[in-house]
Amino acid sequence: MIRITFFENPQDTAGTTIEAEAGVSVMKAAIAADIEGVAADCGGTLSCATCHVMVRAPWTDQLPPMTDDEDSMLDYAASPREGNSRLSCQLVLTDELDGMEIDLPATQY
Ligand code: FES
Repeated sequence: MIRITFFENPQDTAGTTIEAEAGVSVMKAAIAADIEGVAADCGGTLSCATCHVMVRAPWTDQLPPMTDDEDSMLDYAASPREGNSRLSCQLVLTDELDGMEIDLPATQY
């Protein structure tokens, strides 16, 4: 199993750690674990940007490259886009991502 810790805001220093299997997207893992900061209105079809997350280093280096479609859709995210912003429906879990830390945006709407 792959562990992912989600941090809701800067005051949330402990975060919420979940476990998921390789091959599942970070978005689907978050939804299955009732992580409220991920909405994912489109269900992962890359048409909503409500699955916006910020991935902490060093895991950013382990992620697949961003496609042009993800890059364009991220511009519609409700919270300001940051250098480590990604759409979590596009991030498929691999064993290398075990321990991944993710900051959630202030809002998805
Ligand atoms: S769930 Fe809609 S873009 Fe990711």
